[in-house]
Amino acid sequence: MSHISINRQRQRGKISKYIYGQFSEHLGRSIYGGLWVEPNSEIPNVNGLRSDAITALKAIKVPVLRWPGGCFADTYHWADGIGPANKRKKIVNTSWGGVVENNHFGTHEYFELLKQLGADAYVNGNLGSGTVQEMSEWVEYMTFNGTSPMADLRAANGRKDPWHVKFFGVGNESWGGGGNMRPEYYADLYRQYQTFLNSYDADHPLYKIASGPNVDDYHWMDVLMKSAAPYMDGISLHHYALASAWEDKRPALAFPENEWFSLIKSAQKMDELITKHSTIMDKYDPQKRVGLIVDEWGSWLRTEKGTNPAFLYQQNTIRDAMIAAITLHIFQKHVDRVQMANIAQMVNVLQAMLLTDGPKLIKTPTYYIFKMFLKHQDALAMDTLDTLAETTSASVSKNQDGYFISLCNYGLTAADTVTIDMDSTIHTVAGEMLRGTQMDQHNDFDHPDAVAPEKFTATTHDSHQLTAKIPPMSVVTLQVTTEN
Ligand code: AHR
Repeated sequence: MSHISINRQRQRGKISKYIYGQFSEHLGRSIYGGLWVEPNSEIPNVNGLRSDAITALKAIKVPVLRWPGGCFADTYHWADGIGPANKRKKIVNTSWGGVVENNHFGTHEYFELLKQLGADAYVNGNLGSGTVQEMSEWVEYMTFNGTSPMADLRAANGRKDPWHVKFFGVGNESWGGGGNMRPEYYADLYRQYQTFLNSYDADHPLYKIASGPNVDDYHWMDVLMKSAAPYMDGISLHHYALASAWEDKRPALAFPENEWFSLIKSAQKMDELITKHSTIMDKYDPQKRVGLIVDEWGSWLRTEKGTNPAFLYQQNTIRDAMIAAITLHIFQKHVDRVQMANIAQMVNVLQAMLLTDGPKLIKTPTYYIFKMFLKHQDALAMDTLDTLAETTSASVSKNQDGYFISLCNYGLTAADTVTIDMDSTIHTVAGEMLRGTQMDQHNDFDHPDAVAPEKFTATTHDSHQLTAKIPPMSVVTLQVTTEN
């Protein structure tokens, strides 16, 4: 039994739509094959971008896309990825499997992707192996409106007008693959590099993001905030859900019951991480100006048999749907600090929205959570008074029609009866549910709709109280229209 009480006076603040952000790296088949298929491909595409993926992703209103990495970002030299495709350098992707990177997907193709998706840009610069000049010139290339060496080069490559870059990351995981730096050293480099990232468009200044801590490295956060907070708009945090130790990745399918719970528990750690990192940030930034940017999160499981282990291709089950719902609820609890989050990664890598196999494409249970939660984007998070069952997670937002409630019961056997006290007269209730009947229920290329949302009607209500019976292994959303 769970109980939720809504009071309009108790609000947490606006849920930034950017919390529903995505990430796509030059890793495995995330870009190549998953999104980019070349303009002359037999797979239906517009300007090289596969149409089925774009259609599916537009339906979840991707607000922002982080690119080109990840680890790859700290090896990426952007100038390799501009100009005629057949003249671009072929390089080795040293981060992910040593495969050939032909650079056919570069800056211009990224902005074409954003245009087709209707998403904002989050470009991650190379601090690990690139120079200040290179990073500075990339920003000039993308955003300067006028005559300059980089703006002229952009025009010569077919794009006269500048693009709009909303977010810019200065390095990735600089404590690890991005340079194995100590926080003091990175903080100084961050201060230096960001100095030369000019906001050429005064109306839209760059939102600069420092490379933040790995999971619970509170020392990194403390040093960065102490030394560089005035120079940043955001600082990143990475945390992946693991069912066991990092070195012992567990299967995505056919896993035992204890791994259902261990993976979910690992995802739930996000709450503690955000709370503790926020406490440190509050010391140096009590006004909460600097955003905590969770730009890598999701489940990290064993790769599927027969696939290149460096490509991080994993299946996605109803358990991943639980993780997505629970984690998004956590972000919505912390809207005062979490200004953006980017699930890893959008297609074919880690906890993906979409999986592809040649011309075939399927939507994952995680995709459906992003679709079902659309009404939370940019709504007002409510600070509800809750007494929740041990396996129930909930979040409530307010919109112009009333309230949007999402509930997740990650218990394996028992339904949870959730009673919700509303502060205004209930008019209508419309429900949707994503449900599993076995722990590893998933979609595959032969059964693309084994997990898909269905109408949810197990509710009753009187004027001010709503009761919903939430089955085990399910996520339910309720749009409740109210008197005002
Ligand atoms: O998302 C996969 C990788 O995980 C990223 O490249 C890196 O930043 C992190 O370690």
